[in-house]
Amino acid sequence: MKVLVVGGGAREHALIWRMAENPTIDKLFAAPGNAGMAKDAECVRVAVDDVPGIADLVERQRIDLTVVGPEIPLVAGLADELLERGRLVFGPTKDAARLEGSKSWAKSLCERYGIPAARSRTTTSMEGAVEALDEFEAPYVMKADGLAAGKGVAIVADRDEATVWLRAALEQRTFGAAGASVVIEEFLSGTEVSAFALSDGRDVLPLTFAQDFKRVGDGDAGPNTGGMGAYSPVPFVDDATADEILNDVLVRTVRAMESEGARYSGVLYAGLMLTDEGPKVLEFNARFGDPETQVIVPRLGSDLAELCLACAEGNLALYKTNLSPQSCVTVVLASGGYPDTYETGFEIEGLAEAKSVEGALIFHAGTAERGGRVVTAGGRVLSVGALGDDVAEARARAYEAVSRISFDGMRFRSDIAANAAEGGSA
Ligand code: AMP
Ligand code: GLY
Repeated sequence: MKVLVVGGGAREHALIWRMAENPTIDKLFAAPGNAGMAKDAECVRVAVDDVPGIADLVERQRIDLTVVGPEIPLVAGLADELLERGRLVFGPTKDAARLEGSKSWAKSLCERYGIPAARSRTTTSMEGAVEALDEFEAPYVMKADGLAAGKGVAIVADRDEATVWLRAALEQRTFGAAGASVVIEEFLSGTEVSAFALSDGRDVLPLTFAQDFKRVGDGDAGPNTGGMGAYSPVPFVDDATADEILNDVLVRTVRAMESEGARYSGVLYAGLMLTDEGPKVLEFNARFGDPETQVIVPRLGSDLAELCLACAEGNLALYKTNLSPQSCVTVVLASGGYPDTYETGFEIEGLAEAKSVEGALIFHAGTAERGGRVVTAGGRVLSVGALGDDVAEARARAYEAVSRISFDGMRFRSDIAANAAEGGSA
């Protein structure tokens, strides 16, 4: 079997790394891939949003299965294009990817099918937005409706700030078309957790839970990022909560999509708040999380490629997951200045030394090879983690590996999984 992984981050490196061990895979491709994946996959220079370019690659190389990492190609219709060309794809169609691509659509689905989520209002006008603010109390939670690379959410303490943000989104179009419509919703307090399940459109196979750290600085200070670290499993999600999430959120959502005539296949990632009233959906994603994948895939004992194929072929009912009880922690090493502007091209040192730490797992994100050296080439550069018998052990090993790596301007959070390692909740 020939498999293509679409994407070029640490998430896709983790997917490739796991699939490279699979003897049924003859060849792996990555589009566009990165320096870390090049050992296991042929990296082809095609951009993730080049739908026809990727589909042509699949036909030219007779690729049997395409696994899509990021949301952009899904929302742009890559799965539809591949299905039209008679190819198998792991990832939802454009209609099904609306779960992530349109927050207002996802909200309305939740309302119509009783999927627990924060109460919300959607509007396209300043007038409507001001009225909507009256219905909620501070802090105000406002979201650009469309894809905004994780930057389209604002939580502000007062009404004036809320109005400024809304005006910027609706009138000045700071988020472009993604902010032409905005969702204003109730602020939920509690503990955040990410839930992952596979689906072939009908059956749902729960994977596991993870927690990620979105803010750039220790103690959740500073702006949101793509994610600065993660760990899995999450010790404070008990069996009863896990069942509730599976039945009331994951299964109900897949059934709802079926009823809507947009069967959902691929991985369903629900961002949840565990509130006093039970788990509630903050957002859906139509793909694996980054950096959550880097801590889930290493725990997946069963064959990842077979599970992806089962989702694509529609026979997931025949499969089970076999997750290791071990814990996994990953720490993102980012360029100085990230998530704002940063420089690239700095040599990365200590990769081999880091790899020699017991249980260490090093996944590349923004890296490139230059004259036999690995250099920085993006905001998030590496995802450095480790497996261990519990969170504390995995965490200690991950930070030991981190301490052996260096590049100019390197920044990372020093508190990833710190509370969980001490038995706390976030
Ligand atoms: P989202 O992209 O919708 O997951 O939002 C980004 C982050 O904003 C989430 O990870 C939460 O930390 C926070 N957030 C989003 N919606 C809410 C809400 N309704 N109440 C409290 N925090 C929220
Ligand atoms: N970890 C956040 C995301 O993948 O969207």
